[in-house]
Amino acid sequence: LAPKDLEGRKVLITLGPTREQWDAVRFWSNPSSGTMGACMAMAAYLRGADVTVVAGPTALTFPCDMGVVPVRSARQMYEACTDLWPDMDMGCLTAAVADYRPVPFGETKFKKNTSAGSGITVEFETNPDILKTLGQSKREGQKLMGFAAETGNLREEAARKLETKNLDLIAANDISRAGSGFGVATNEMFVLDSKGRKEQWPQLPKTEVAWRLWDHLLL
Ligand code: PMT
Repeated sequence: LAPKDLEGRKVLITLGPTREQWDAVRFWSNPSSGTMGACMAMAAYLRGADVTVVAGPTALTFPCDMGVVPVRSARQMYEACTDLWPDMDMGCLTAAVADYRPVPFGETKFKKNTSAGSGITVEFETNPDILKTLGQSKREGQKLMGFAAETGNLREEAARKLETKNLDLIAANDISRAGSGFGVATNEMFVLDSKGRKEQWPQLPKTEVAWRLWDHLLL
C-alpha cells in the first residue's frame, strides 16, 4: 500500500510540450510525451495528494477525480499556472515549455514560394518563464520542484536554475543520453536541492524516479 504522506496537499504539475502556432497548420514544439509529468502526477495521487495537472498536448489520460487543465501554448500554461499557484502547497513543473514563439504569420496557410533557392525567415518572441514566476511568488510553506533538460554542463545548469528560479529541488536530465529525457520510459537524474544535497541516480523507470523525487522533497 502506498504511504499517504501527501494526504491533503494540493499539488500542481505541468507536463508535456507546448505548441506555438505559426500559421494555420504549422507550429513550433518539442518531443515531450508528458510521461515524466504523468508519473509525478500519479505518484502524488497514489500518496494522497489533491493533484491538478496543467497539460500541454499529449495522448495521456488521467483518473477522473484528478483535476486536468488542457492547454496548448506557453502563454496559456502560464495563465493557468499563475491562477492556480496561490492555492497550492507544492508545484512540480516537468513541462517542456517553448522559451520562444514564432511571430504568427496569420490564420491562413503560408504558401510556398516556388522561386528556386528562396528560403524564409521566421522571427521569434520570448515566452514567459512559468517556473521562475512561481518561484518569485513562492510563499512560506510552499515547495517548488523544477526539471532541467540539458545537453551538457548538467550540474552547473541545475545549480543555476535552482538558484535563479528560487526552487526547493531541481531534477536535471541529460537529454542527449540514451534512455534519458524525451519520449522514453526511463530517466537518469542529477538531483540537487536548496539544502545543498546532491545525488546522481542511475537510469531508472520514470515511475521510480517520480516516487524518489517526492521522497526527496518530503525529507
Ligand atoms: O515528457 P517526457 O517525454 O517524459 O520527457 C520528460 C522531459 C525531458 C520533458 C522532462 O524530464 C524534463 O526535462 N522537463 C523539463 C523540460 C524543460 O523545458 O527544461 P528547461 O531546462 O528548458 O526548463 C527548466 C524548468 O523551467 C522546467 O521545469 C520547465 O518546466 C520550466 N520552464 C521553462 C521555460 C518556461 N518558459 N517556463 C517554465 O516553466
